[in-house]
Amino acid sequence: MIDRTQLEDIFAFEQGEINNPNALLVRVDALLIEALSAYHDGDDPIMNDDDYDRLMRLAKHIESDHGLKSKAANQVGARSSKGFSKIRHARPMLSLANAFNEEDIADFDRYIRDFLSLPDAPLTYFAEPKIDGLSLSLRYESGELIYAATRGDGEEGEDVTHNAKTIADIPHKIATEIDVVEIRGEVYMERGAFADFNEVEKKAGRKIAANPRNAAAGSLRQIDPNVTAKRPLRFMAYAWGEMSSMPFVSQSDANLAFRDWGFQTDKLAKSCENITELSEHYQHILTHRSDIPYDIDGVVYKLDALDLQKRLGFRSTTPRWAIAHKLPSESAFTRLLAIDIQIGRTGALSPVARLDPVTVGGVVVSNATLHNADYILGFDSKGKPIRDGRDIRVGDLVEIYRAGDVIPKIKDVLIAERPENTVVFEFPNACPECGSPVVREEGEAVHRCTGGLVCPAQAVEGLKHFVSRDAFNIDGLGAKQIEYFYGLGWVKTPSDIFNLSIYRDKLENTEGFGKLSVQNLFASIDMVREVPLDRFLFSLGIRHVGAGTSRDLSLHLNSLDNFIKIIDGEDSQERLSNIDGVGPVVVKSLISTFQNPVQRKIIDDLIAQLQILDVEPLQSSGSVFEGKIVVFTGNLENMSRSEAKVRAEGLGAKVSSSVSSKTDFVVAGPGAGSKAKKALELGLIVLDEEKFNLVLDGQPFE
Ligand code: IVH
Repeated sequence: MIDRTQLEDIFAFEQGEINNPNALLVRVDALLIEALSAYHDGDDPIMNDDDYDRLMRLAKHIESDHGLKSKAANQVGARSSKGFSKIRHARPMLSLANAFNEEDIADFDRYIRDFLSLPDAPLTYFAEPKIDGLSLSLRYESGELIYAATRGDGEEGEDVTHNAKTIADIPHKIATEIDVVEIRGEVYMERGAFADFNEVEKKAGRKIAANPRNAAAGSLRQIDPNVTAKRPLRFMAYAWGEMSSMPFVSQSDANLAFRDWGFQTDKLAKSCENITELSEHYQHILTHRSDIPYDIDGVVYKLDALDLQKRLGFRSTTPRWAIAHKLPSESAFTRLLAIDIQIGRTGALSPVARLDPVTVGGVVVSNATLHNADYILGFDSKGKPIRDGRDIRVGDLVEIYRAGDVIPKIKDVLIAERPENTVVFEFPNACPECGSPVVREEGEAVHRCTGGLVCPAQAVEGLKHFVSRDAFNIDGLGAKQIEYFYGLGWVKTPSDIFNLSIYRDKLENTEGFGKLSVQNLFASIDMVREVPLDRFLFSLGIRHVGAGTSRDLSLHLNSLDNFIKIIDGEDSQERLSNIDGVGPVVVKSLISTFQNPVQRKIIDDLIAQLQILDVEPLQSSGSVFEGKIVVFTGNLENMSRSEAKVRAEGLGAKVSSSVSSKTDFVVAGPGAGSKAKKALELGLIVLDEEKFNLVLDGQPFE
């Protein structure tokens, strides 16, 4: 249990004035997060439920009174003091790529056809409404419901079995011979039921939910299943996780099986034979949207045949064989109060519209992105007019919509309502944060601050990126703490984070921090000193070097030593360009960053604090391709270049685009030209498609 005086110390702020809300919130959050993880880990809670709830109330109070964001109050799984235990999904729960128009759908279909080398074959898609609820995974063993888990982060969700069992649409038993069956689908609330439920809650003086999705999520995450049982929750099945054997061969087949097992499936699901039929079905759903009793935010298209789905496989978090065609979201009108400029990590100036708060599709919106100067003036990136060329001015009445239902955007301006004396917005030519000149490079839509790390906004954004989830992800060191430490001058560059302990005494005596949270902070910083190469590269926040590119670089170069050797080498440009997935823009950005003496010192100082781990090729396949450099040239008859590449990489090969003496194998199909010739000259092993297929099958090819 935690020291009582430490808690009383904090509870004293419930009454009195809070001088340093930022620091206090850091302290409250640290305790809440520790308490929650202690609770989840099992038998050793550090505080009782009442104290937890009291702290949480204080966190929310600081949030609302001081315009800050509490990490603990917004953390998934932290909404109740009881918490739910975690369940690791047997197969990850993925998300879907989005499509916004017919062109995106045509691209999706073309991509699949190219990948599968099926340019003209008939391909069936299964189209079903995308319900706006929350996904749930139900695991049945020997026909019996064993557990229900929320999506969580996709890898690990929360155990909500008791609550899920109260939903009438979820059978407790299913008639099947199959040992393990995992059904995935959406928990949701119908609009009518939601309105009734909110009415009751309002009368009882309780907080009402903003939309059916929030109401469904809140209802499923109740501590007491008796409460969940009274909520009008529904469940619709649309996918599966682990299956010990596979009883269906297509998505439409699965849909029938789900029904046989007693699940609801969407009545608007339909098999479509081509993209024209997909488009017709989309229009049909769009027209009848308001008659559908639940909220939907898109139509999901899935390639029907499972054998083809399997060949296509997955990107990191989305399947290649499915896409969500978004429905247009609803819009609302409000007044534009001001245009502010925010500076991003790479110095880009982003104009933000400050709006008179308005509800759009159930969510209150008070900011919207304005993208760039041209957008405000009424032009797109190609100089074509948007909004018929109408510009946006402070004071205008604007129409707001939520694109893809997340980021609010401005759809239009009501010129007829424009007040007198409004002025055209002028983009600043000096950075509002550091005063450095602002430039707009040839062919670019964005204005950039030239201050680099001199610009506090860029430095802070870079540091925030450095500690973000996919980068160093340091527990207890989030955006808020970065701003605070930067303000004090303690953390100016990433390496300073690893020297923060020189301020231990000062920190322990800072309001809002205590011995315990300081100790935890240093422990989490020490924990990340060992870092894989790809995460390290990504964390540097180099322009154009995202997570995927960092991964590609690491898989090919494996170690930091090798990476540095190549980047400092005379032929760095050529060597880097040879890496598949690394284009000229990335190469230029990498080289200019590492050649810039200021940046280089920052990186070298950081390296001195870390142990950077090698990245091995993905999996040990036992294949002759493992760890080898393979180049494809010419066409393959039964497979596209993309599929061939993905499959070779799956066996541990590094696929490169040019032949050199470092190449191990060249796979040459008909039409192979100079690369095959060069391979022969260099005496490399050249495989034809037949031999390549033998390698894929794990057979000897000679
Ligand atoms: S399929 C591997 N089908 O959308 C694909 N998802 O953005 C797994 N959703 O987390 C998802 N309706 O919560 C699929 N008919 C449908 C869906 C659907 C709603 C949700 C689901 C998922 C999210 C993906």
